[in-house]
Amino acid sequence: MMVASSEAPFWPDDAAYWRVPIVDQRLLARDTYRIRLRAPDLAERITPGQFVMLRIPGLNDPLLGRPFALYDTIDGHDGRACDVDIVYLVKGKMTRLLADAAPGAELEVWGPLGNGFISPGPLRHAVFVAGGIGQTPFVALARELTGRRRYGKPPREVPAAERVTLCYGARSRDFLAGLDDFQAAGCRLRIATEDGSQGAKGLVTDVLAELLEADDVDWIATCGPEPMMEAVADLAAARDIPCHVSLETPMACGIGACFSCVVPVRQEDGQWDYKRTCIEGPVFDAKRIVWEI
Ligand SMILES: Cc1cc2nc3c(=O)[nH]c(=O)nc-3n(C[C@H](O)[C@H](O)[C@H](O)COP(=O)(O)OP(=O)(O)OC[C@H]3O[C@@H](n4cnc5c(N)ncnc54)[C@H](O)[C@@H]3O)c2cc1C
Ligand code: FES
Repeated sequence: MMVASSEAPFWPDDAAYWRVPIVDQRLLARDTYRIRLRAPDLAERITPGQFVMLRIPGLNDPLLGRPFALYDTIDGHDGRACDVDIVYLVKGKMTRLLADAAPGAELEVWGPLGNGFISPGPLRHAVFVAGGIGQTPFVALARELTGRRRYGKPPREVPAAERVTLCYGARSRDFLAGLDDFQAAGCRLRIATEDGSQGAKGLVTDVLAELLEADDVDWIATCGPEPMMEAVADLAAARDIPCHVSLETPMACGIGACFSCVVPVRQEDGQWDYKRTCIEGPVFDAKRIVWEI
């Protein structure tokens, strides 16, 4: 258990450290893998939008853990949450090594970390906007909002959304990961690829703008590259639609100790201050983010 802080609302009181076995690893899309960890204590506590820090035991390069969002939890034979799925894009040192890890190998994991998504109440139409690997937090959130699964200990009650749509942008169709999972979660899909190999050719924000013209939307949640999230936040603000962003700020400790993950966030008094993404986020009200200082 971590030490509580009087300042941060999401200090990781509920987080713990485990060494857990990999039970499955498979390629979902180009350079994109789903790794399944047998971690029942974590699986029963974690909620959509929260993340874990993963580290490969016994290595000092990379020394530090890396943050990864919850993709989903899976039940065991007894019907209780048992495994935790993480979906990751191979990017650098840690994720390259992770892709070579086979079932049976162990990983160090600490979590659940961060605040996660809190649904703003009963919704007619929730829209998620994801760019690249930013789709990972939205499978669990879609399942929760469509009443297909409950998360947390005790399992939390979330008012259902009548409709859930994922606007998902990628470089090309071979990078699109987990489309079946989103469909099974009850999500309608709007795809954009930069090369036009699937869905609309162009930016996912164009797809969102079109959707907002045609449809009533009462909540937007977004994750991906910052310029995309800023554009999504602008589209939401122009229509006065509540919008939350899940930031992917690089992190060193994940528990509020190192300040490597700070972002400028607007305060009640209109001034901004740096906030730690790992314990004040990673999910923030989009209106509070200062995108450029
Ligand atoms: C809350 C949170 C949730 C995340 N969830 C996921 C997830 O579900 N799946 C996933 O694939 N990734 C996720 N990420 C990003 C992931 O943590 C990084 O891709 C990972 O740390 C890369 O580690 P690496 O050792 O392979 O690469 P490194 O060797 O550390 O870095 C390779 C290159 O990527 C850059 N880089 C590292 N981290 C980031 C970042 N966060 N944003 C932009 N550039 C970066 C480095 O500067 C470097 O140029 C998440 C990040 C955060 C903060
Ligand atoms: S990652 Fe260390 S304070 Fe956030």
